[in-house]
Formats: sequence, structure tokens, C-alpha cells
Amino acid sequence: MNHSASFPTIGILGGGQLGRMSALAAIRMGIRVKTLSPTASGPEAHLGEVTVGDWHDPAIMADFVKDCDVVTVESEWAPADLAEKVCGPMTNVWPSSETLKNIRHKGRQKQALAAAGIPVPSYAICETYAQALDAFSRFGRRVVAKQFEGSYDGYGNATVTSEDELQQAWKDLSAEDGILIESFVPFRRELAIMIARSASGECVVYPLVLTEQKNHRCHAVTAPAPCSEQTSEIAKRISIAAADAVSVVGLLGVELFELENGDLLVNELAPRPHNTGHLTIEACHTSQFENHVRSILNWPLGDASLQVPAAVMINLLGKRAGLVETTGLNAALAIPGAAVHIYGKLETRPNRKMGHVTVTSATTETARARAEEAANCIIL
Ligand SMILES: Nc1ncnc2c1ncn2[C@@H]1O[C@H](COP(=O)(O)OP(=O)(O)O)[C@@H](O)[C@H]1O
Ligand SMILES: [Mg+2]
Repeated sequence: MNHSASFPTIGILGGGQLGRMSALAAIRMGIRVKTLSPTASGPEAHLGEVTVGDWHDPAIMADFVKDCDVVTVESEWAPADLAEKVCGPMTNVWPSSETLKNIRHKGRQKQALAAAGIPVPSYAICETYAQALDAFSRFGRRVVAKQFEGSYDGYGNATVTSEDELQQAWKDLSAEDGILIESFVPFRRELAIMIARSASGECVVYPLVLTEQKNHRCHAVTAPAPCSEQTSEIAKRISIAAADAVSVVGLLGVELFELENGDLLVNELAPRPHNTGHLTIEACHTSQFENHVRSILNWPLGDASLQVPAAVMINLLGKRAGLVETTGLNAALAIPGAAVHIYGKLETRPNRKMGHVTVTSATTETARARAEEAANCIIL
């Protein structure tokens, strides 16, 4: 086993962009990185030792974890429970499978938040269609139906305003244990906040950011969020309470709805690096990815505060289906302050997250204009 205190080995379950950017942060600090994923999709290439194999196979997992000091996941779907089973006593898996289990299921997640007194939209865990219909009426016949597990980037959600739509949502989205029905929140804005928490309980909270979705998908993120000091403080308190509620070690992304009256509700949690934290690479003293690595190793956490006045991140989504051919990079790179991140995915498809651009600047207006301009140049 490699348990050298100075140069530990991290095993990442997953080979997408979140694992890639975590690996880049780890490698910079002299940490050895390994990845295990079921398919070779591109982002994991050239970053440490890559294993492509069936991660549900105990023998493959055991072989992968045997020289890791810590194992982490880039998504709540990775088989952390199997990793825990086959890891020796000296190897931790963070976040734990218990944390992932509670977050992965949108119903259990809402219950954990509500039990901790954290404000969430009105919701109902509906095992039968009759219960879903009852919730639909109780919540004013305007609801969001959500698949319990497996949804992301708006896939797996449906806004429902009629019984026909409810029937359709039940058909499309319900699982054996039913469906989640939430009252439709007429939010003013969507905000998000990231927190890193180490096994020792030390935590740092990132600045509150504004997130804008197009078709339920993250389009732009702005830091700092144009909010009052008081709203930022409340968001910070909520994120710490949420991290406690689900016992996170590592990163937790907290998606928030801001209501017209300024109140905040938690929409959902993500126990990993989060799209709304990508701009921390350029905008903060320590990126979310570096603090992810530090927190799972129980190393001291880095300063999460902004080191620039303003930053805007725009996602680069796939425009067509097929093998990747990138155009427009030169034009994007010519824009002052544009940091271009390409995830190295081999295949593109419409709306697939292929990269992002972050621009830091003296004002959010300049950062926004330049980030949009740079993002518009790049076709992936
Ligand atoms: N209860 C709700 N009321 C209004 N809009 C919602 C509600 N829940 C989700 N949305 C909208 O849909 C988006 C995606 O929903 P979310 O539950 O975060 O799913 P995903 O797992 O796809 O990110 C949110 O960012 C928000 O814009
Ligand atoms: Mg979401």
C-alpha cells in the first residue's frame, strides 16, 4: 500500500469533467491520481492511471482501490458502497456511501433537509398516482414532478399544470417507489453555494453565486451574486446546516431558490464538485477542486474567498451529434481574460456539457459580456 504522508494516492470513481478537474488540482499538489470508469469517454485521458472496467465487479474494484489512500466519486451514482466493502481499513471513501444514498434519491434528500429544519419547497413523496393527484391539488395545481433517482440537467423533471400532464409525468418519471411532487416555486432568481468539509469537521464556504438556467440546464454563473450581505449570510448558514444534515466529507453544492420576499429555499444538493463552482478555478484563492482534494485527504482547507472583483462562467454545450471537432478556439482565446476549459470528450451531442469559459474582470457586466462573446465563438 502506498500510504506516504506527503504523496498520497487518490482513486476517483468516474471519468468525466468533474473527475478531470479534480485530478488536475491533485496532480498540481504532487498527488498520484487514478481513475476508474465503465467507459472511456475522454476527459480522464492522460490524467494519472486510467482503468476502464465494470466498476460493479468486486474484483475490478478491489484491484483499483488496493493502493489508494482515499477513494472519491465524481458523481452520486458511482458505486461507493462497493468501494467501501473492498477497501482496507486504512483507505477512506469520501463522501461515504451513506451520504450518497441520502442525496441520490430526491425524496430521501428532501426528507433529510426538512428533518434538519432547512427550508425547502412544499413536497410530497408519492407512492401511488392517487397520492400524486392529491399533492397536485394541495399545491395549487402547478407542480414540478421529479423522478427520484437518475435525473440531471433537467432530464427527469416535468412542470405539471393539468391532470393530463400529471398522468404523463407519472408514466414517464415514476419508479417502483413512486415520484416526488413539489409545489412550483415562483422564484425570483436561482443561487448556489459550495461548501468544502473535511473529515475533521473543518469547513470553508464559497461565495454565493447567481445561476441562470436555459431549458433547465445551467447556462451562466456569476460571482459574487448580486445579493445583500444578509442573503449571503443566510445562504452560508443553510449550506453548513445542509452539510451537517447529510454528513458530507468533501464538497457539497447547494442549489437555492430566492423568492420575491428574499427568502431562500433549498432546491437540491450535490455531494461533489458542482457546475456552479467551476469559476472558483480563476475567481477564488483555492478552487473547489483543490478543496475537494484537500478535504477528502483531511488536509488544511484553502481560502475560498474571491481573489477578483467579479467572474462569470458560461457553459459550452454540444451543438450536434458526432465526434468532436472544435472550431473558434483562436477567436475565444483572443478575448481578454477568457479562460477556456475543454473537457476532452470524444463525442459531442446537443446540449452535452463539453467545456466552459470563465472571465474575471473588474465588473460583472464586463465579465459577462466577454464570457458570452468567448463562448459564442466556440463550436463543439
Ligand atoms: N419546485 C420547482 N419550482 C420551480 N422550478 C423548479 C422546481 N424544481 C426545479 N425547478 C427548475 O428546474 C431546474 C432543474 O431542477 P433540479 O431539481 O435542480 O434538477 P436537476 O437534477 O436536473 O438539476 C432548476 O434549476 C429550476 O430551474
Ligand atoms: Mg439542479
